[in-house]
Order: sequence, then structure tokens, then C-alpha cells
Amino acid sequence: MFAQLSVLALALAPLASALTLQIPVDWHSSSQVNISWSNVASDPPFSLQLVNTNEFHDTFAIANNLNPSADFASFQLGVIPEGQYTLRAINVTNANQIYDETPSFTIQAPLSTSSRFYTAIQPIASDASSAEGPIQIRVRSPQFEDASWLYFVDFDGPNIVRVEHVADNAISATTKNKFVHLALQRTLSLAAELKSVGTLQNTLSYGLDIAIVGDNDFYSQRAQLAAQDLPPTLDSLSKLPPFAKTGVRLPDVHKTGLGSSAALITSLVSALLVHLNVIPADSFSVEGGTETASEGRKLAHNLAQYVHCLAQGKVGSGFDVSAAVFGSQLYTRFDPAVLAPLMKDDVSDQRLYPILSPKNVAWDYRVEPHALARGQGAQVAAGEPG
Ligand SMILES: *[C@@H]1O[C@H](CO)[C@@H](O)[C@H](O)[C@H]1NC(C)=O
Ligand SMILES: *[C@@H]1O[C@H](CO)[C@@H](O)[C@H](O)[C@H]1NC(C)=O
Repeated sequence: MFAQLSVLALALAPLASALTLQIPVDWHSSSQVNISWSNVASDPPFSLQLVNTNEFHDTFAIANNLNPSADFASFQLGVIPEGQYTLRAINVTNANQIYDETPSFTIQAPLSTSSRFYTAIQPIASDASSAEGPIQIRVRSPQFEDASWLYFVDFDGPNIVRVEHVADNAISATTKNKFVHLALQRTLSLAAELKSVGTLQNTLSYGLDIAIVGDNDFYSQRAQLAAQDLPPTLDSLSKLPPFAKTGVRLPDVHKTGLGSSAALITSLVSALLVHLNVIPADSFSVEGGTETASEGRKLAHNLAQYVHCLAQGKVGSGFDVSAAVFGSQLYTRFDPAVLAPLMKDDVSDQRLYPILSPKNVAWDYRVEPHALARGQGAQVAAGEPG
């Protein structure tokens, strides 16, 4: 019995590899991860594959053609669902040949916070008597110094909405914010077209106080990290309180390049459309691409694209807004011609809805939800300009 076993073991020995992976520690999705292994001189180059221990045994190729004598690799993990996994070292050209496989370990949620903007809308006035005078809309971004803008709104004829920035140091930022101003103006115009001016006046009669906050990932948090003696790493970012104050004025803020103006506009425009009853509150409850999106989500997308293009003075790729509306995706851009008729400062003689409507076939963009799967990894490199 013993003799037989050792003969079998001997026969197998030449095929086996001496490569032994250490069990990964502290791996998070979308984060830099480390792996160590031991080896002998004859070990071949190998690739790394993650195998989810769930019933589907989904696999993810995460690193290719590693040099065994390096003993160590550090790389960026793509978007991997949280859960239990084993890690395999496999033949570079044949995934069925497994050199080593670790016991199961946990992959945790990304270290970074989610990258979202949140918009909260409430009335300014508490009762009718304090709501006299012009309709007021205040937009605040409490993470920034001097970032509170006051606007007066009035109506001129059946569809024409005027939104005027009140430039008064004591109550309103001195610098204008073109993104916010245009978002308010065009969203209210669209609402007036679709709901009538009377209805809109009613909804706005107590004024609006709008607070917009962004997750910490949107802004450079170097100063905050330094103040707390934390190194500038993703791990440190996760230790900051949510919606950390940046300590700077908005024009000075170093964006991380993740399309924060697009995300801000999308959040503001969508929240306003819901608040003004232009689209139903559940418009964003179903995730997915253009195939399954609600009319409400599509209208929010078209309007946000429009406002973003207008504020930037050109029709860009639209990817930033699309990512803010639909999440992770494969994106096919829209033909810029769709927005051409509306790309001017004064559109008071023009109705917006015929162009912005989701039913307008000229919106030929396509979004397919992009669940990262086999062998794929996506990375967004966030650099800080300057
Ligand atoms: C990964 O290894 C590098 C050294 O190459 C080290 O600086 C870093 O802290 C390690 N990261 C983790 C998450 O262990
Ligand atoms: C890896 O797989 C290929 C294809 O099956 C095979 O030709 C090759 O010999 C394998 N390499 C090692 C080191 O076993």
C-alpha cells in the first residue's frame, strides 16, 4: 500500500510546480494589491486567476505572465465583486493547468468611498408670510468656502423663466457659477414647458434651498490628509469623514479629474426634475443601460448633457455625464448635431422638450451596462492636474 502510493507520487513529481502562493491579505476591489510566493529556479512564468467560491465559480484573470523568481507582485485589482475567492497560479497559455491554488480568502469592497454627488432640496421659507417677495433659490455646496449662490426667479410669459444671480457678498458668493446657473435656468424652463408656469410657481412659492455634496473622491483631499498626518493613499481616504470640508473656495479646488462638474450637474438636474414632479421619484430605481432605463432617467440624461455642454461652451464626448447617469458602462456617444439648435445663450424663444425628449430619435447614444467579467479589468487613473 505504502509502496504503491510513493510510486504514484514519484510519477507525478515532474509535472508539479514548486510555486506556492501566499494567501492574499487585505485585498479590496479596485485597489492596489500585493501577492507573494515562493518558488524554485525551474518554475515557469505564470498568470494569476481569481475564482469566486460561489456556485458559479466565476473566474477573473488579474495578472499575466509573472516572473516566478520575483517572489512578489503588486498591481491594481479591477472591479471584482466582494466575496470569497481562491487565487490560482496557472500556465500562461493554458488556464486548466494549475500550479498552485490558495485556500479561500475574502475580497472586500473598494477602499475608496463611492463617487457620488447628493442633492438635497427643501423649502427656504417655513410659512407663507416669510415667503413674500421674489421666488428665491439658494444653492449651497457646504464642503467649500464661500460657495452659496442666491438666485431670484421670475416668469415672463407662458414659458419664459428668468433666473438671476444675486451678487451680494453678505448672502451670496461673489463669483458666479455658470454650471449651477444654467442647470437651474434650463431645468426650470423645461419644467415650465411640461407642467405650466402656474404649477411651477406653486411648487416654488416657498423658495428652494438646495445643498449639493460630493463624495471625498471627487476632490483632492491632500490638505485634509496632511492635517491628520495621514499618507496620501486610498486607505487614508477611507478614514476621512464623509463629505469632508475641503477648506477651499470652489474655483480653487483641485478636481481629481473624475468628471465632477458632470456629476454635480447630473445630480442637481435630476433632483430638480424629481422635486418639480417632471419625472417620477422612482426614475432611477432600475439599474441598467439605455435598453432598460426609464423615460425619466433618459430625460435627466439628455438635460444634463445639454446643460454640461452649454456650460462648457461645446458639445463634448458626453461620457462624463453618461457615466454619472448610468454608472459603469460601454458608451457610444451621441451625434453632437442633436444639441446644435439649443447651443446659444438665449433660447427663450425656443421650446426645449422637442429636442431633449427621450422620444427624439436624434439622441442616438447607447449605453450598455458593463459588468466586468472574465478576464477584464477596468481602471480609471485619477490624476491631479498641476
Ligand atoms: C504593497 O507593497 C508595497 C511595497 O511594494 C507597500 O508599500 C504597500 O504598502 C503594500 N500594500 C499593501 C496593501 O499591503
Ligand atoms: C503550458 O501550456 C501549454 C499549452 O497547453 C503547453 O504547451 C506548455 O508546455 C505548458 N507549460 C508548462 C510549463 O507546463
